[in-house]
Amino acid sequence: MDDKTLMRTAIQAREYSYSPYSKFRVGAALLCADGSVYTGCNMENAAFTPGICAERTAIYKAVSEGKREFQAIAIVGGALGHKALSVTAPCGVCRQVMREFCDPESFRIILGTGEEDLHIYLLKELLPLSFGPENLEPTQAEEEDRNP
Ligand code: THU
Repeated sequence: MDDKTLMRTAIQAREYSYSPYSKFRVGAALLCADGSVYTGCNMENAAFTPGICAERTAIYKAVSEGKREFQAIAIVGGALGHKALSVTAPCGVCRQVMREFCDPESFRIILGTGEEDLHIYLLKELLPLSFGPENLEPTQAEEEDRNP
């Protein structure tokens, strides 16, 4: 799927946003390495903390169905009642969740206000000097030191 279509899919996913408290509606469309696409919207809660962003909804849906390799995510936000969509960058928590499953060198984050206005970043640009799964893996030397 191309970037414009992915953005269009995110705009459609935003329609399902459940955001009665912030009234800020967000949609996301995640492109998997196998070409499948998972969508997500933000979902808020009266108790506030259980709310979840559109990006994590899409990622968790995909991972819970066995997907682990991702190419890109399109994200779009905008306040309820405002005609114009706004360039909506992922929050820090969502960037860290992307870091868990996506290659910072190649995973593309597609922001924009429509398919004719795309702003594309790599994960490494939005989350520099990051901490990821490899940081918890012992090096060969450390492994040998533990099991001589
Ligand atoms: N939100 C997202 O879903 N994704 C983002 O990238 C930014 C923020 C949601 C969380 C909350 O429901 C609302 O937008 C306002 O913060």
